Amino acid sequence: MFDFITEEHEMIQVEARRFAQGEIAPIAAEFDETGDFPIETIRKMGELGFMGIEVPEEYGGIGMDTLAYSLALTEISKADASHGTIMSVNNSLFCNGIMKFGTEEQKQKYLLPVASGQKIGAYSLTEPMSGSDAGTMRSRAVLNEAGTHYVINGVKSWVTSAPYADYIVLFTMTQPELKHKGVTAFLIETDKPGFERGKKEPKLGIRASATSEIIFDNYECPVENRLGAEGEGFKIAMTVLDAGRIGIASQALGIAEAALEASIAYAQEREAFGQKIGQFQMIQQKLADMKTRVEASRLLIYQACLAKMDAAVSGRRYSLESSMAKLFASETAMWVTTQAIQIYGGMGYSKELPIERYFRDAKITEIYEGTSEIQRLVIARSLTGLR
Ligand code: CAA
Repeated sequence: MFDFITEEHEMIQVEARRFAQGEIAPIAAEFDETGDFPIETIRKMGELGFMGIEVPEEYGGIGMDTLAYSLALTEISKADASHGTIMSVNNSLFCNGIMKFGTEEQKQKYLLPVASGQKIGAYSLTEPMSGSDAGTMRSRAVLNEAGTHYVINGVKSWVTSAPYADYIVLFTMTQPELKHKGVTAFLIETDKPGFERGKKEPKLGIRASATSEIIFDNYECPVENRLGAEGEGFKIAMTVLDAGRIGIASQALGIAEAALEASIAYAQEREAFGQKIGQFQMIQQKLADMKTRVEASRLLIYQACLAKMDAAVSGRRYSLESSMAKLFASETAMWVTTQAIQIYGGMGYSKELPIERYFRDAKITEIYEGTSEIQRLVIARSLTGLR
């Protein structure tokens, strides 16, 4: 139907679906309940190449494109959004930034093990007092007199995968008086002195993807671990988030697809008032609207993937396409999972079925990597050019 979807894209989609339905779906409820980190399946995903899809083979990935990444992530998230979160942070937020802004040494040292899934990567921008307003962080990195390393202090919050991350792309202030232009990015090794993990957040959804604060107490980061130039950090963070938002849109699509398919099956089998509930117009209307919104999300995601692939050649920003896809797909996931619970009634509210998990998992897609309000702000600014 779409000539930009090649045989190779279909192959990775089928492979991701096979793994997701065979190995992830059966364990998703248990890991949601315990909140344990699914390290075994994540390692297997690494062996299959899912932890570094767009990373060239020489750096441990499988060298495919953004569409391939999006198709695979949708399939993984359809089985379990927590696995989807861990996969998306590794691919979009960790690998992407180093691929684009890293030195050859940084790529060899950090990209290779994370893209191949042997190590876990994370991305840390948010702080307790700086979320949507990402240019106002309080953490600091100060270059020592000898110019050999930066001393980092401060607290970062809501860091996905932090409890298990080996390496983290950190954004912190080197020149606070310059605001956005005073932010610098660093590559952090989590086994070094001065780095500590805070308590794991008890979350509503994506419970198997671990999230925590991280604390820097005179952490010494060698100069060669600076990612990009001093003051370039805010642009790096935003560029990486443009890519990341396509990932979250793809995750949201997977959650919505799972809820829609379950709703169709239930409408076909559940009877009330002497007929299948799918014969009632009120259920039909829900299913029709759910399907339409799911397909509209898919098209916006394809558009964003193509825009990102084009940007690799033209250098053009694709913030508009990426934010539209994330906004629409995440709001679709929340709406579709709400309808799914309504269609299932009491059974949808029960932990015996995955429907309530889809609903809980959908919510985060409207929040992380930029809330729906921030996506609307990015879209409107890109239309008017006004700040
Ligand atoms: N690409 C490149 N450069 C960009 C950019 C982009 N997408 N967006 C902004 N910039 C540049 C601007 O051009 C500007 O550069 P100049 O100073 O040279 O003109 C500079 O960055 C500052 O931009 P703004 O004036 O637009 O900055 P702002 O303070 O108004 O903020 C914002 C813009 C869009 C609101 C931004 O702060 C934002 O996206 N906030 C949300 C942050 C977010 O998504 N946080 C989630 C963190 S990750 C996470 O969720 C956790 C996880 O682990 C999954």
